[in-house]
Order: sequence, then C-alpha cells, then structure tokens
Amino acid sequence: MTWAPFTWVGGVLHAEGVSLEQLAEDVGTPVYVYSTEMIRRQAARLRETLASVPHRIHYACKANGSLAVLSLLRSVGVRVDVVSGGELYRARQAGFTPDEIIFGGVGKSAEELGDALDAGVSLISVESLEEVELISRLAAARNVVARIGIRVNPEVSVESFHEYIKTGEKGDKFGVPYDQAEKVGLRAHALPHVRLCAIGMHIGSQLSQLAPYGHGLERLEALIASLRAGGVDTLTHVDIGGGLYVPYNGEAPADLSAYADTVLPVAKRLGLELIVEPGRFLVAEAGLLLGRVLYRKHAGGRDILVTDTGMTELLRPSHYDAYHRIASVRDGRPQGRFDVVGPICESGDFLALDREMDDASPGDLIAVFTAGAYGNAMASNYNARQRPAEVLVDGSRWAVVTRRESYAELVQREVSTPDWRASA
Ligand code: LLP
Repeated sequence: MTWAPFTWVGGVLHAEGVSLEQLAEDVGTPVYVYSTEMIRRQAARLRETLASVPHRIHYACKANGSLAVLSLLRSVGVRVDVVSGGELYRARQAGFTPDEIIFGGVGKSAEELGDALDAGVSLISVESLEEVELISRLAAARNVVARIGIRVNPEVSVESFHEYIKTGEKGDKFGVPYDQAEKVGLRAHALPHVRLCAIGMHIGSQLSQLAPYGHGLERLEALIASLRAGGVDTLTHVDIGGGLYVPYNGEAPADLSAYADTVLPVAKRLGLELIVEPGRFLVAEAGLLLGRVLYRKHAGGRDILVTDTGMTELLRPSHYDAYHRIASVRDGRPQGRFDVVGPICESGDFLALDREMDDASPGDLIAVFTAGAYGNAMASNYNARQRPAEVLVDGSRWAVVTRRESYAELVQREVSTPDWRASA
C-alpha cells in the first residue's frame, strides 16, 4: 500500500494525524487542508526521477502560491517559477532568493520585466521577439545583462482532459512559434544586454501521454543544434515545463520511470542542465477542501446537497468539468446519487453532478479531494464570498497558514464616495 495523506481512522477522515472533524470545529468551513508529508514525498519522488542528470525543479507556483506551501517546498530544495509581478512578490515573501526564481508568462508588462531585472532573477522566459527587444532595452537602461530563455511552442499534439489546459499546439498563444524560434534565438544572441541561456517548452497540463514530451524535445533538440551552428554558445539549460499527470479518480499515476526515459537521454545528449516546472504534481494530491452540507433538496428527480462551498473556492468542476472525488468525513455511509452544489447564485456552481457517493445530511462534513493545485489559487470573491482559510498539517500538528478573509478585507480597497479629479 502506498502512503496516503488522507485516511479514515476510527471512522473519521484524518489529514495525516489530524481529525478533520476536530479541525472543522476549530477553524470552520470551508477550509483547504494540506499535508506537508505528501508535498515532501512528491518533491523527493521527482528529485529521484531526475537524479541521474544535473537538474533544477522550479515549482510553478500558480498551482498554489500560499506562502507556507512555497516555503515548505523551498525547505526541500525546490526552486520556483513565477508568471507575474504578484507571484514574484509572493516568492520573495516566502524566502526565495532571486537566483532561485524563473520569471515566465505570455504577457509580462515592462514594469514586471523591470522588477524581474531589478530583483536579478535567474532567468526570464520570453515568448516573442518583441519581448526580447523590450528586455534588451530595459537591461541596457540598467546596465545589466538579462539572462533569458526562449519558450518555444513546439507545435505538437497533446492529450489533456480539457482544451483550456493544452498549450503546445500550433496557433496557441503561448511561446514563440516553432518556425520563428531560430530567428528569435539568433537575434537574442546578437544583443549585448541579453544572454540566451535556455531553450524551453511547456506543452500543457495534466498530460495523459508522454509521447508529446518526446516529440517536443526532438524539436527543441533540432532547434538547439541550429542555434549552436549559428554561433550561439551561451546555452546552459533546457526547460521542459510542467504537465505531469495526477490521478483524480483512482487512475494510474504518472509513470515517472517512463518520463525519465523520455526526457533524461535528451538532456544528457544536449549537455545542458534540465529545468522542470511542475505545479500540479507537487501539490494536488496533498490538498483537500473541507466543506459542510447545509441543506438537502429533492428537485426534478434529483437529490441535491447544498454545501457551504462551491465555485468560489474550487472553480475546476464548473470551469473545466473537472472531476474531484467527494466523500463524507464519517465513513460507512450508504451510497446515494447527488448533485453537490455550492451557495453561489449561478447554475454553474457545482462540485459534482449526478455523482454516486456517500449519502450525506445537513451538518455533515464533506471532503473534496485532490484540491491542492489550482484550488485556492483560483478562488474568487464572487457573491462577496470570503476566501477560505488554509491549514497545513504535519503529523499530529496543524496550523492555520491563511486565515479566512474578513468582511472588512472585502471592502478595504474601496471608497463609497469617489475622490473626483478633473480631466486635464
Ligand atoms: N509551466 C508553465 C509555463 C505553465 O503554464 C504551467 C501551467 C506549468 C508550468 C505547470 O503545469 P502543471 O505541472 O501544473 O501541469 N488551472 C488549470 C491548469 C492550468 C495550468 C497552467 N499552466 C487546472 O486547474 O487544471
């Protein structure tokens, strides 16, 4: 049996050694609960997978940017990948030093790029020729040399569960189109305030097949060969992005040894240090969302559980039709078939539809699993909902690492009486 972060002990679901019934009493619901041990284990598994080549793991913190999660990952030797000035700020607040940070993203503003240069991040991953030129000007004005990588769109076909999370196909907005990449690379190489250090790709998220990594890498390899032939002698890294598959409903997990077989020989052949940017893989299974059933309705032949949590805390079911397993915190319940919905005034506000699951009544606690990635990170204040608390568990210890948002915080940036200014 593999180790699991969430198990039933004496009929009650526990996160490591902590009863979720007790936790809900103490902290209230909805609350995200994360297992430190699971995060450590995933980081260690990935590190072992890549051990035979020089590598860096840069956690894509868009998956879960909570300071405690960031600082936990940093404590086990993981670096970070940020995609906005806000994420750069978060990463710095969590203790990451600039040399541990990659700054990526399809639409970085001049201000964000300036911040990244001022901080001295280890790499800026660029996605267009215009961005290279802009960085060159910003770096020249600061009299620094910007270390950049080019994110290439290798234009391979990928399998993922939803169109919205595929990124490496022809015509996608991400990356430099493959047929323009050599030109962009040579131009970057010619600019005195830019150093071309890396070539990379990110082809999508929750990838169920490994072949696209292989196809993408073949294309990167060919590109690197022609850049080298064109005189580029500054490359130190090849970046293969994130995308590792995570099981949400008992599927087979990502085959890490097949991943290694696909990726590591290329890194060795190229003689470049490998960069990976996992998000979901490190944190998804370590987290669950704990909520409480408020009401139970019967309508149009359906049994509906109205809970105190929904799309404002976990958008994935309504946005991507994503599946998240749901169970009662008390085990041994008979099975039923339910729509599990939230309190938001939207028909699209659901966690599961027509789901065979534990029967539940008002007052019962439910756990929504595999919610550690792209859960709280995508939470919103719609309907003036307070964003939820987050709790980190470590063995039998637990701590609130994000307190529930207060009503006052909901309005603190606003004024009810405008401070009018005259137009010039
Ligand atoms: N690197 C880049 C450049 C990315 O855009 C992403 C994710 C990652 C790394 C990390 O990918 P991962 O290892 O987590 O698959 N909100 C969606 C997922 C969007 C992923 C966006 N980019 C979801 O909830 O499924």
